[in-house]
Amino acid sequence: MINPNYNIYFDVNNFKGAIKCINEYGYCVIRKMIGEELVKELKCSIDEFIDPGLNIPPASNRSHLAFAEVSRPLWKLIENAPYLNFNYQVYGTKDLCLHRSAAILRTAGESFGTWHTDSREHIKTPKVASDLLNCHGLLSGAWFYLNGSHPDHSGIAVIEKSHYLDWDGPEGFELTKNRNSFHPIGDDVEATYKSINVPGCVPVVAEPGDLICFADRTFHTNMATYERRYSCGIGLRPKSIKINAPWSLPLTAQRMIENLPRHLKPYVDGYTGYDGQWEADQ
Ligand SMILES: [Fe+2]
Repeated sequence: MINPNYNIYFDVNNFKGAIKCINEYGYCVIRKMIGEELVKELKCSIDEFIDPGLNIPPASNRSHLAFAEVSRPLWKLIENAPYLNFNYQVYGTKDLCLHRSAAILRTAGESFGTWHTDSREHIKTPKVASDLLNCHGLLSGAWFYLNGSHPDHSGIAVIEKSHYLDWDGPEGFELTKNRNSFHPIGDDVEATYKSINVPGCVPVVAEPGDLICFADRTFHTNMATYERRYSCGIGLRPKSIKINAPWSLPLTAQRMIENLPRHLKPYVDGYTGYDGQWEADQ
């Protein structure tokens, strides 16, 4: 675990610095991307669609992997000029569409998670929807941790510089066979490692309105959870990256497209939807 001796915090007037930090170290934090009001609204929306009965058990989590299809407040992130401008600068174009979106709710008692990369760039034969969606070099993390992030109450930890193509695990560790995770050298190859004690691990410290960004391949995980915690994200991609999804557009996606206000419609041109049930033919 390390305390970075370089700056990882940027404000909304310095996206250039933020992007440089992502390129160099694999992650960064952008301060005050959204205000308190929107933080509150997004939390309410997560309750409404993920835990309407407020009965999620302790030490557990629930997620929605196409949250933009149900949550109107999530679209307020796209209506938020700094967030949209950040995306323009990251991808070098204004011609963007909705790529993926998600929300996660965790309750106190959840343990430190499994280290992993979201990137599926190294998968030769796509089997599930994420294999087809997470291989385009887009930011894996453009996440709002609506309770903030801190090792004392939870949030996200990342491994600095783990986004480089030739990175093959922290010192003393090796990547698992599928290259999605890692384990101490000599341990069972299928075992995955759940601990903050890894060389290069940075427990990210951020406030509720901050945006936590990380690169496509950056290894990360959730830290142990000590409270009810909310997070969400809405990711965009340049329309020049065309994806022919082999699944049909889910009904919820069709309904979202019909109901979106006119100024947001351009962002669904190219949206594939997400079908968690889809599996490639063997
Ligand atoms: Fe992840």
